[in-house]
Amino acid sequence: MTAYIDKIGQFEGQEVTLRGWLHKRRSSGKIHFLTVRDGTGFIQVVMSKAAVGEETFHRADHLGQETSLIVEGTVRADPRAPGGYEIDVDTLNVVGESRDYPITPKEHGVDYLLDRRHLWIRSPRQQAILRIRHVVVDAVRDFLNSRSFTLADTPIFTPAACEGTTTLFPVQYFDNETAYLAQSGQLYNEANIMALGRVYCFGPTFRAEKSKTRRHLTEFWMVEPEMAFATLNDAIELGEALVVAIIARVLETRRQELETLERDTTSLERVQAPFPRITYDEAVETLKAKGQPFKWGSDFGGTDETVLAEQFDQPFAVHRFPSALKAFYMKPDPDRPELSLSVDILAPEGYGEIIGGGERLDDLDELLARIKKHGLSQKTFEWYLDLRRYGTVPHSGFGMGIERVLTWICGLEHLREAIPYPRTLNRLYP
Ligand code: 4AD
Ligand code: MG
Repeated sequence: MTAYIDKIGQFEGQEVTLRGWLHKRRSSGKIHFLTVRDGTGFIQVVMSKAAVGEETFHRADHLGQETSLIVEGTVRADPRAPGGYEIDVDTLNVVGESRDYPITPKEHGVDYLLDRRHLWIRSPRQQAILRIRHVVVDAVRDFLNSRSFTLADTPIFTPAACEGTTTLFPVQYFDNETAYLAQSGQLYNEANIMALGRVYCFGPTFRAEKSKTRRHLTEFWMVEPEMAFATLNDAIELGEALVVAIIARVLETRRQELETLERDTTSLERVQAPFPRITYDEAVETLKAKGQPFKWGSDFGGTDETVLAEQFDQPFAVHRFPSALKAFYMKPDPDRPELSLSVDILAPEGYGEIIGGGERLDDLDELLARIKKHGLSQKTFEWYLDLRRYGTVPHSGFGMGIERVLTWICGLEHLREAIPYPRTLNRLYP
């Protein structure tokens, strides 16, 4: 019977076949202790000379780290073992040898590791992050699917900018056209809600970020829900509930991985809706009071976000940013038209913005004026303007960056560990 380590407890006392890789081994005379991993977890495999015979026992002396192997043995409960179980081996077969594996338990520099990212992902820490990432994605889908959202995919080759022209990646599109890699699926979401009511897209998005911060990737995954007949407040409430659902699912199903990451979970346990809300104006006052050199009208930098987060032990929302700071599609606040009905949700502990969104400009003439003001070509946006010509409705939504959320949940220093193959200003390999 082939067994996976995460479900090994179901096979207590039984003979199982385990297929995986050798993570490490140590020996004490007549017994080898092999730590084997199969992608679902790690388990200690105990091999005694008496059980396997001289020849197999001796061969195990020379197995290199990351040798792939098939082990047959009996599952035994052991309260001292990390997962609660061990396997007593009867037979061991090597599938593929591994010699001089370049990533050893000693410390390596981050560039060394990033150059070997295809191997680095095998290490316990990286596996834990990727397994949590999977749960985050799963939780997002379940949450939206259970609330009458329809997944509607949006294109990656696009004819125009969504989030400003400075971070576009151009691609030669056959002979005489330039396409741009999507910065966001939002504009297409806005078309899709007029067909489907509540939609989301969930895919890779691209930003030619020339900054080398720990919060920016050039390729990242974003989930973007969008709702017809919805206000700024609806978007904030949806964002809160989504974040709460993600954290709850991770705490419920990925405790062991959080432990591997040595993540103190007390701040995650605290997350509950509603989140504190402050206006942009209030945020500026706070920054000034705390001695930050900040001018009304500028955008928050990483340090500003960290300073703002000091007053909350929860994620929090900052709403009503100056219109000049935000994209052309943001609806102005009717009470103060210099402000936009926009929101950012920031993670606590200084992890910064995880969600950005708001209410969209639904009036044709105002939108036309904005497109002109932003120097965008009306022709490329004719289809988007049609949405205001044929049955426009108030609508809102947001985008949540998966790597930002994961970085916070896992307590990482940098976004580059939150995605299998990070793409940054200086990295396109492997
Ligand atoms: O705030 P942003 O730019 O908003 C939009 O793109 C909207 N069109 C979304 C919408 O309303 N449908 O990006 C949304 C989120 C940010 O809050 C952040 O989590 C993430 O995307 N993000 C990045 N993550 C990694 N690297 C980058 N360079 C990112 N830029 C944005
Ligand atoms: Mg933003």
